[in-house]
Amino acid sequence: MADDPPPPILQLTPLNPAFRDDPHALYRKLRQSHSVYRDDMAGSHVITRYKLARELLNDRTMLRGPDKVDPPGPFNQRLMESFEADPETGEKRSNSILLMDEPHHSRVRPPIAKALYARAAKCKPLVDEIIDEKLDAVEPRGGFDVLGDFSIPLPIDVIGAILGVDIERRSEFRDWSEGVIQVLNPFRTPDQEAYLSRSGEAISAYFEAQIADRRANPKDDLISDVVKLQAEGAQLKDREIISNLIGLLVGGNLTTSDLIGNGVYALLTHPAELAKLKADPGIVAPVVEEILRFDGPVDITARVTPHDMEIGGCPVKGKQSVISLLRSANHDPDIFENPDAFDVSRKPGPHVAFGGGSHICIGAPLARIEAQAALVKLFQRFPHLRLARPDERPEKRTLPFFNGLQRLDVLI
Ligand code: HEM
Repeated sequence: MADDPPPPILQLTPLNPAFRDDPHALYRKLRQSHSVYRDDMAGSHVITRYKLARELLNDRTMLRGPDKVDPPGPFNQRLMESFEADPETGEKRSNSILLMDEPHHSRVRPPIAKALYARAAKCKPLVDEIIDEKLDAVEPRGGFDVLGDFSIPLPIDVIGAILGVDIERRSEFRDWSEGVIQVLNPFRTPDQEAYLSRSGEAISAYFEAQIADRRANPKDDLISDVVKLQAEGAQLKDREIISNLIGLLVGGNLTTSDLIGNGVYALLTHPAELAKLKADPGIVAPVVEEILRFDGPVDITARVTPHDMEIGGCPVKGKQSVISLLRSANHDPDIFENPDAFDVSRKPGPHVAFGGGSHICIGAPLARIEAQAALVKLFQRFPHLRLARPDERPEKRTLPFFNGLQRLDVLI
């Protein structure tokens, strides 16, 4: 360990202009000085290197819920504000698989995953159709904003169609998603807090009504699939269905938009790599994996120690939160040669952009289908696509622990 104290976690968010400009300068220094350290602001240990992050994510004995942390610390306190008391047991816990532990996680995740994976497996024609529709709309304009006109509406329309929600209300879904995601922002302001609670109430009421409707009139959609699984015996409570449908709508929105936005920017600023994709669109799967590694949309995920243990030679007591810095792990030179280079021919490495183990991102297959189709179709339709302002760095969003662009203007 070096003498320099590591920066408080706030500095590892886009609220810090230096991090926004060059996160990897900070991560690089941190990896060299501290592979694991305690951050009092987060009330958590922080892991900076790949090998430790991978070990912890894959370790199914590690816990997940912020309620397991003792003392909880400010970040976990904030997360727990969203918890509801179980009417049967009085236990206050999350209804979302994201923050759930056993025995609930392996009861709730499998039916939701079964329904989502079955829908994702047959959604490619739908995804292609939605992409074509977005590209048709921008074609006559000579230029457009990759985020606002393409990568933001695309995942909303896809997950909306899969779920079976009324897509005419897409701007409300986006708005509710932006509100609900504030649950993961420990630095939220009173205004953002009000936005969160307003959005949470609106979206919960919306899904409650949708569930009631599908019970009476089943349709060909994921909400009906989940309601049917419940009727056939899957042990899902209605509030768990609602919470996890919200999780799919919100999880399926911001992250996938950011993956496509970050990917288009990486390709446009690395013409030799873009040329490889244009020459052979068949390589798009490894291209998307390299985008996830190089500039992934999610910065952190957390686990909780089930008992006293040693992490990277550092003794950590039980019931302690441990945050893995996913983007730092994905640039660890011990694992990825020349890690700050964007190289689509890189031997596909096992990045941690989707986390790992029992909580690995449930939407990863869908995000991959969308991003792969979006990039191939975008560059096939507009082979001369270029940045509208090549000398300017596009502005980043400022939501802590998420990594995406505010907008990305291009010319066709
Ligand atoms: C590029 C896009 C995406 C990225 C980078 C991403 C990233 C992540 C990460 C890092 C986790 C935490 C995993 C862990 O702790 O090990 C996660 C969990 C999750 N993601 Fe995603 N995600 C993406 C897309 C999606 C989509 C499209 C959906 C829904 C359709 C989704 C829904 C979820 C849910 C529900 C969880 C919680 C899973 C659990 O704890 O069992 N995500 N995601």
